[in-house]
Amino acid sequence: MRYKPNSFNLYSDKLIPIDEFIEKVLYHPKAGYYTRKIPFGKKGDFITAPTISNLFSEIVTIWLISCWEKFGKPKSFNFVELGPGDGSFAKVLVNTIKNFPELNEAINIFLYEKSDFLKKTQTNKIKNSKVKWINNFKSIKKGPVIFFGNEFFDAVPIKQFTFFKKDLFEKCYIINKKNGLNETYRKATLKDSQVIKSFKTLRNLKFIEYPKKGFDELNKIIEKISKLNGGIILVDYGYLDIINKSTLQVIMNNKKINIKSLYKYLGNTDITYLINFNLLKEFFLKKKLKVKKIVSQKFFLEKMGIIQRAKILEKKMTQKQKDYMSSTLIRLLHRDLMGELFKVIFAFKSKKNNFLGFE
Ligand SMILES: C[S@@+](CC[C@H](N)C(=O)[O-])C[C@H]1O[C@@H](n2cnc3c(N)ncnc32)[C@H](O)[C@@H]1O
Repeated sequence: MRYKPNSFNLYSDKLIPIDEFIEKVLYHPKAGYYTRKIPFGKKGDFITAPTISNLFSEIVTIWLISCWEKFGKPKSFNFVELGPGDGSFAKVLVNTIKNFPELNEAINIFLYEKSDFLKKTQTNKIKNSKVKWINNFKSIKKGPVIFFGNEFFDAVPIKQFTFFKKDLFEKCYIINKKNGLNETYRKATLKDSQVIKSFKTLRNLKFIEYPKKGFDELNKIIEKISKLNGGIILVDYGYLDIINKSTLQVIMNNKKINIKSLYKYLGNTDITYLINFNLLKEFFLKKKLKVKKIVSQKFFLEKMGIIQRAKILEKKMTQKQKDYMSSTLIRLLHRDLMGELFKVIFAFKSKKNNFLGFE
């Protein structure tokens, strides 16, 4: 069901910082994009790797199994999926891990999801007593913990700033029925200015995207990893070169729409941005985690054996199934599709350094 934009109050004559605005549009309890519809898949607004192919989820699961081995096969091992969406990844994870009885016995699987609507979708899809839904990480007390998020970080709203002369200003919106969406700026708070200036990656930029809410999420995660050992692996749409302009994207029916028309579709569109992977890396290093080399999705999946796995599966497939699998592999791996646009970062605390998939 599509909501008419004026069926809920997202209009405001007040200045609203970009992240607060996105938070409302995506996660408003009644009217937010993620709180009342399933955005993923062919019939949705966008397709994510786990909804394209189970192979993606299988390969990440294989990586997780290798990770458990690197940690010395502990008897208690925790896995948290951040933002599980429609539950596609977790379903494959649970089914694959059943084939590894020792790990199946050791692992606790947690799903960290903000949207109650998506939680319901996930519970309908995953019926397994090992899986628990959590709103914080307090119940994870023992054993290493691995966090995984596919397109999680880009769903956590960002702030945007620009310099006018030497002063930093924050971008805000004013959005009302009469005039639509208007951008404006207000002086950044001293705290935001100081934090932003402390990142080397952001130095000399004229236009800055800063994931304050995303870093708040990561701080809670890093606290757990620092105590228990483990790591966080994030797969997302992002860049390594300097971009220096807004990367906000509004996606509807698998197409980008002009941000200026956003006010017409409030609550009906996804709003995302591209991840600055070097900034993420600098953040993790500041927090005393080690970070593997940032690699493309293609590099990671191929290193972890996706092609070999596809060849094994192919043996029992009809021609139609083979053709379908090959088209999904192209989407995941082709340089101009997800293969290079998506990157993988792994930050961790462990005496070991030889985690698979990155070199
Ligand atoms: C773009 S979707 C990706 C879904 C899934 N991982 C996939 O790849 O298909 C983002 C997911 O993160 C969830 N999410 C966003 N911010 C969150 C937060 N702060 N805490 C927990 N979940 C969040 C959304 O509700 C949604 O499930």
